[in-house]
Amino acid sequence: MAALVSRASLLRSKKLSIHKVWFHQSAVLQSGSQSGSQSGFFPAAEGVMLPTGSFSNRVAFITGGGTGLGRAMTTTLSQLGAQCVIASRKLDVLQKTAYEISSQTGNKVHVVQCDVRDPQAVSRCVDQMESLTGLPDVIINNAAGNFVCPSERLSPNGWKSITDIVLNGTAYVTLELGKRLIQSQKGASFLAITTIYAESGSGFVVPSASAKAGVEALFKSLAAEWGRYGHRFNIIQPGPIRTKGAFSRLDPTGAFEKAMIGRIPTGRLGKPAEIANLAAYMSSDYATWMSGAVIRLDGGEYVSMAGEFNELRRVTPDQWTMMEKLIRGTKGS
Ligand SMILES: NC(=O)c1ccc[n+]([C@@H]2O[C@H](COP(=O)([O-])OP(=O)(O)OC[C@H]3O[C@@H](n4cnc5c(N)ncnc54)[C@H](OP(=O)(O)O)[C@@H]3O)[C@@H](O)[C@H]2O)c1
Repeated sequence: MAALVSRASLLRSKKLSIHKVWFHQSAVLQSGSQSGSQSGFFPAAEGVMLPTGSFSNRVAFITGGGTGLGRAMTTTLSQLGAQCVIASRKLDVLQKTAYEISSQTGNKVHVVQCDVRDPQAVSRCVDQMESLTGLPDVIINNAAGNFVCPSERLSPNGWKSITDIVLNGTAYVTLELGKRLIQSQKGASFLAITTIYAESGSGFVVPSASAKAGVEALFKSLAAEWGRYGHRFNIIQPGPIRTKGAFSRLDPTGAFEKAMIGRIPTGRLGKPAEIANLAAYMSSDYATWMSGAVIRLDGGEYVSMAGEFNELRRVTPDQWTMMEKLIRGTKGS
């Protein structure tokens, strides 16, 4: 009896020390990790993936094409032979990007100033594009806005400004172009850039989560409805990729980035070129059988956050040996 009691108390104290070590270590890792050493296994290949000329004689329209991921996608499509049209609010930014890309690729990049929140502005933008290049073969809905905010501090204006750009803007662009393409019996590939939390929802970015979920519903619905007009609709959900636009409003102190890298199984952030290669493939003739697809490109972040027991990756081999003993020693239910 005495032996049993002392064995039980020994196991209890071991349990306590495992808890202490495990949670202490997990706190240290979360606050201290820079980039996972495993990132060496997953170097980013940033060269253009598709064969040269894959977009020759094609026109690509990219909203928010002047900066960040939009700029990367425009660069790749232009390198592959497309004539690109980029649209957003800041004309000077668009012009600078267009000049830099076309001097690098030798292919024309046109700019059109457009606030996607305004359906009339979108209609005028499409008029302008029709006279510059004709209707596009590839449409990428990439423009977005976002900021972190506790929802109890969110004003109707904050809600409206994000949902107007992301959901309404994408709908205005897609419906305006879709109707004109249908009228002229021209097929096209539509792509939307959403986010991994469009599926799960996320606190602190509620307008963005709600609007991105709406964009995904819009695209999946039109994939079903407009295949008969030659239109494909697909979605990319990027994980975290450092761009000035995204990180300045989502991680103003830089502290969140370390925590993100700590939980990404591939141990690093994504690169704009990785999204650009996927976007080019999904918009290309190599993907004409792809419609209604949602592709997550996030280094494994989503599944890493989802699995209830995933935190056990922080348990060391010695701790596992102790845990195994405890588990084997458990009798009854
Ligand atoms: N970077 C990431 O980690 C990440 C992760 C998941 C998803 N995404 C998504 O990827 C896309 C690109 O983001 P990013 O990181 O490249 O950020 P970004 O550089 O800030 O890109 C946003 C673009 O949207 C344009 N835009 C904003 N409001 C607009 C409006 N009312 N009308 C027209 N254009 C407007 C901006 O141009 P103007 O200011 O000139 O209008 C800008 O070029 C977004 O859809 C974002 O949600 C990014």
